[in-house]
Amino acid sequence: MPKRSCLAIILAAGEGTRMKSATPKVLHKVGGLPMLGHVLKAAAGGGATEVAVVIGPKADAVALFVQTAAPHATLHEQRERLGTGHAVLAAKAAIAKGAEDVLVLFGDAPLVTPATLVRARKALAGGADMAVVGFRTQSPTGYGRLIEEKGRLVAIVEEKDATAEQKRIGFVNAGIIAFRSEGLLPLLKKIGNQNARGEYYLTDAVALAGAARRKVVTVEADEHEAAGVNDRMQLSHAEGLFQKAMRETAMEEGATMTAPSTVWFSYDTQIGKDVTIEPNVFFGPGVTVGDNVVIRANSHIEGARISSGATIGPFARLRPGALIGERVHIGNFVEVKNAKIDEGAKVNHLTYIGDAQVGAAANIGAGTITCNYDGFDKHWTKIGAGAFIGSNSALVAPVTIGAGANVAAGSVITHDVADDALAVARARQEDKPGWAKKYRERRVQEKAASRPKAK
Ligand code: UD1
Ligand code: CA
Repeated sequence: MPKRSCLAIILAAGEGTRMKSATPKVLHKVGGLPMLGHVLKAAAGGGATEVAVVIGPKADAVALFVQTAAPHATLHEQRERLGTGHAVLAAKAAIAKGAEDVLVLFGDAPLVTPATLVRARKALAGGADMAVVGFRTQSPTGYGRLIEEKGRLVAIVEEKDATAEQKRIGFVNAGIIAFRSEGLLPLLKKIGNQNARGEYYLTDAVALAGAARRKVVTVEADEHEAAGVNDRMQLSHAEGLFQKAMRETAMEEGATMTAPSTVWFSYDTQIGKDVTIEPNVFFGPGVTVGDNVVIRANSHIEGARISSGATIGPFARLRPGALIGERVHIGNFVEVKNAKIDEGAKVNHLTYIGDAQVGAAANIGAGTITCNYDGFDKHWTKIGAGAFIGSNSALVAPVTIGAGANVAAGSVITHDVADDALAVARARQEDKPGWAKKYRERRVQEKAASRPKAK
């Protein structure tokens, strides 16, 4: 990592009209995180010591996101959308503060990696004045073409301004450019708008820098990293690339996946070693999985911490605040929300555990429900260690079931149960010997009597 100070300027003032959405483009998510969040993370990983985000007018939602995701970042409004060169100048106050490197990134290109940013900055540390990240592609349409002479980058020509011959060039601008900050503001101010789109192109900085005898280099990146998102097709394409990378990372770190393409991760999913993930598992944000965990097919997990040796699913749902202890079993059609399940407890079938604590080695029978909500407030259920809850019990919170206590099947528990006690809270069974037989005989006779007589 170069020791030089670094300002990252993230351009996010685009309108994103092609998304056809009330949500600003850069807030659309990839792997559960807004695209802008990915770019902020990459900037931090690339060693940015300061971050400036350029936003459009009426971009309150974007501003709010930046304030929460990167409180140290400064916001700069670009009142009119006059091009990428104009957008960078909207952050001139940040540039004027004098960080040595200036990295320009786009808010709608979420897959850029810190490693690529570091390579661009190393080029500056090695004496370049400007480093353009480029990539080679079979489908260059829409990208700025990198024009090289004798192996040196001399200009970038945008699609609309390119000649037929230039359009055949497959080496294009990824949109990430690193600048040495000395002399950058005067250079940016020289950019004009005499081109097909009438915009101030940041990419014109290349030819201007060359004319000023400044050293311009290219840094080559992977095509996938540069994937920009302008519409929902490209959003799903970026999501696909992101998921592929997450799956590969999980496998590299020791997870077994029988059908990786059916497993969906979030940007922050953490998977331990020797974890098995069966097909069709979805991880929402905020999930940590310990070692030796088995997650069986068709489970939906978000905001949960799963400790080592636990078994989840098939068809389990873990919602935010589910803290699953070591060797816990969560079985089919079990939903857990805001609840701590201590080590070795079993919740195997058709159960809702919400706003609760389940003690170690407790056994929760099929169809148990913690009735946590009274229509106004949520209430807590505490189940002691080693307790046994019989099937189809309703535990009406707030309520405590003592350690080692038993609850009889079918009970509706409305007050606390002492340690080691048995609670039976259902009507007592009454038996009437012979009743069913008599009933059957009477009904058969009645049916026969009501049938119309044959003539
Ligand atoms: C840009 C590059 C092109 C490159 C491509 C990579 C320029 C002139 N062209 O083209 O060389 O190959 O990206 O994807 O830079 N933005 C603003 N304010 C503006 C204009 C743009 O904030 O006034 C932001 C957009 O929100 C977007 C980014 O800058 O995040 C890029 O703008 P866009 O118009 O999409 O540029 P491209 O035509 O894709
Ligand atoms: Ca674009």
